[in-house]
Amino acid sequence: MTFVVTENCIQCKYTDCVEVCPVDCFYEGPNFLVIHPDECIDCALCEPECPAEAIFSEDELPDGQEPFIEINAELADVWPNISEKKDPLPDAEEWDGKSGKMDKLER
Ligand code: SF4
Ligand code: F3S
Repeated sequence: MTFVVTENCIQCKYTDCVEVCPVDCFYEGPNFLVIHPDECIDCALCEPECPAEAIFSEDELPDGQEPFIEINAELADVWPNISEKKDPLPDAEEWDGKSGKMDKLER
């Protein structure tokens, strides 16, 4: 079992999540974060910290967010680790809650 970062993180990237992770298993891309599924210990600490409510347990994903299981696994192997909070993306508030952000994901 793992937790998964889903679509609403895209273009927001608040990074509050990384501060609470006891095993530092977040990885950072240009406009999205992912969780490494083999490193996550399922502690659930990050889920309530995300202002965009983008983090879910893999067995409680909202409808349509299932592709993010594979996206997290794939990109966690190529992106660098992030363990310290930084400023959100400049237009985070504007993008928070928008649907159809999947095609904005930069790899
Ligand atoms: Fe880290 Fe726990 Fe969130 Fe997994 S559930 S990413 S271990 S804070
Ligand atoms: Fe993304 Fe939420 Fe973390 S927006 S960077 S999953 S705090």
